[in-house]
Amino acid sequence: NNLDPHVLVIFGASGDLAQRKLVPAVFDLFRGGYLPKNFALLGASRTDFTDEAFRDKVVFNNEHFDQKDATDEQVKEFSEMLFYQDLASYDSEKDIKALAARLKKLDKELKVGQNYIFYLSTPPKLYSTIPAALAKAGLNETKEGWARLIVEKPFGYDEESAVKLNRDIQTHFEENSIYRIDHYLGKETVQNLLVTRFANGFFEPLWNRNYVQSVQITASETVGVGSRGGYYDESGAMRDMVQNHLLQVLAHVAMEPPIRADAHSIRNEKLKLFQSLRPITRKDVKNQVIRGQYTAGVTEKGKEIAYRDAPGVPDDSKTETYVGMKFFIDNWRWAGVPFFVRTGKCLPLKLTEVVITFKNPPQAIFSEYDDYAMSCDNQLIIRIQPDEGMALEFGMKVPGEGFRVKNVDMDFFYRDLTKNDVPAAYTRLLLDCMKGEPTLYARGDSVEAAWAFIDPILEAWKNDEVPIYSYPAGSWGPLQADALWIGEGAGWRNPT
Ligand code: BG6
Repeated sequence: NNLDPHVLVIFGASGDLAQRKLVPAVFDLFRGGYLPKNFALLGASRTDFTDEAFRDKVVFNNEHFDQKDATDEQVKEFSEMLFYQDLASYDSEKDIKALAARLKKLDKELKVGQNYIFYLSTPPKLYSTIPAALAKAGLNETKEGWARLIVEKPFGYDEESAVKLNRDIQTHFEENSIYRIDHYLGKETVQNLLVTRFANGFFEPLWNRNYVQSVQITASETVGVGSRGGYYDESGAMRDMVQNHLLQVLAHVAMEPPIRADAHSIRNEKLKLFQSLRPITRKDVKNQVIRGQYTAGVTEKGKEIAYRDAPGVPDDSKTETYVGMKFFIDNWRWAGVPFFVRTGKCLPLKLTEVVITFKNPPQAIFSEYDDYAMSCDNQLIIRIQPDEGMALEFGMKVPGEGFRVKNVDMDFFYRDLTKNDVPAAYTRLLLDCMKGEPTLYARGDSVEAAWAFIDPILEAWKNDEVPIYSYPAGSWGPLQADALWIGEGAGWRNPT
């Protein structure tokens, strides 16, 4: 491998994300032979651990740590790359000195050439504090090496706070050293959207207002909020899923072709796309955005209690667990084409997919034989997860007399492309940051632009200008969301 030696410092290392995703992702890189020989992971947080206790928590006693085909010796070897530094707070003089001293020691032992990645996996209120503290210790710009900062979601709470956070962080780190993580961008199939569109000659001519009737993006989940009520109630589906993950997916579906497949070109096109979203004014919210909250019901996971009864959620909460919305992109490619996006907890299936519905042929000449021919949707269904792949649906003649038409599909499964496991999102994203490759991370300006689009909707909700509808857990969300489609054809695709 050709990665620079470095230390990956994870702030908030005693938390859930480090156990569930980050340490397993670093282990995957180790197994795959990607990590440089001189490497350390330094966990830092307020819990008082020794190096051994930390290794125990995130490796040996971590139910999310899957050894896979690695031997016990390999796991041990990996665990010995893990260290821990406890902090009383995240910004006291004493803490910073202790952290800096620890890094100096590791640097000397491992000869990492002062290359550091700082991963912020703490409560968001510390996202401005920690970079400032790092700067005080001179760790933001090291003399010999490089320093990069990864910032977990949520990046801001609205446009104003995102702008402020950007300013705060950019005071200490250059934009090209800031890696705002959105794990949807680490999903192979989200990246594959770009290849599908721009490596093939036949999709691109169709990918516009002349041939596309509508575009819909669904991210449905079967789980409820579980024990995350405290966090979720402050956030809601719009901030948790739409502002970040789904707008990123949208950008891949709808952006203009970049001149090159590099970070600068791709991220410029995404920014342009976000800037072309037609604002949904507060007045339009009631016609274009439906918010819902689940009540008790049965999902494939079993009985689910109502959202308002979940731990950490107030009895009178008006936080949305479902969003269905319709909007437009005001540019040449997409003028007049409706885009639909929805996401929700406690829906019937866990899936993320994009559906491009193409316009019907100009005449329905087989309709005298078959009513169906009138409603034969030509759809391209891009399954982001699970069952990653793509299906193209179109009408074929039913064998026999007359001209009866039936929808058939050509189905491609992404897993057929490789015998290896498709890398997990965090694995891919961490590797990119280690390489200094920011393409799959969100740039500051586009995060702000995405918030600018969402803000008026959140304002209208905050002021209770539109109702919040309930839906029973296990259903496809409030029925009112179906009305968004009136006059626009296809309707939500609800797979079974
Ligand atoms: C997270 C959200 O960012 O994404 C969760 O906070 C959500 O609420 C999750 O469940 C969905 O991610 P995935 O990869 O399972 O679709």
